[in-house]
Amino acid sequence: MPGCGYGHDVREFAAAGFEAVGVDFAPLAVERANEQSKGAPGKFEFRQADIFELPNTERGRFDYLYEYTCFVAIEPRRRPEYVQLALELLKPGGMLIGCFYNHGREGGPPFDVTREQVLELYRPHFEIRKLEITPHSVERRSGHELWAEFVRP
Ligand SMILES: C[S@@+](CC[C@H](N)C(=O)[O-])C[C@H]1O[C@@H](n2cnc3c(N)ncnc32)[C@H](O)[C@@H]1O
Repeated sequence: MPGCGYGHDVREFAAAGFEAVGVDFAPLAVERANEQSKGAPGKFEFRQADIFELPNTERGRFDYLYEYTCFVAIEPRRRPEYVQLALELLKPGGMLIGCFYNHGREGGPPFDVTREQVLELYRPHFEIRKLEITPHSVERRSGHELWAEFVRP
């Protein structure tokens, strides 16, 4: 999981039986993630690293990439690079799943992204299975999160 923060989603996926890896460049995030994960079930690990500088050994390693508010945390000018990174990290047939936050406000982070912008960035590289407003958001984000299911060919 890129930009895993305190690791809530990493713990959820690990508890569901996935081998989960969370990456975040903020030392405090990784420290808290480790602290909050003591005794948590399943296989998981946290790494303190810049996702754009992951070693080549991580390339093509993952069946899934889970996106939750990392895309909107990075500078918008780096978005094409972020899409490329997703392609490189996933195995062929692997899936990018998660949410894109279309809050509609100026500035950031989080930097707004529209459905059209997500499609423009990812459609040339991924099979778009789904990109729809999810009914499962927390209340304050309700109607503004696009649930994505993209397959790496
Ligand atoms: C909005 S937070 C989301 C945290 C987590 N996904 C969650 O939902 O609780 C975005 C996270 O991305 C991390 N981040 C931003 N750019 C990053 C980069 N280039 N490499 C690694 N982590 C990054 C930040 O440190 C921050 O913890």
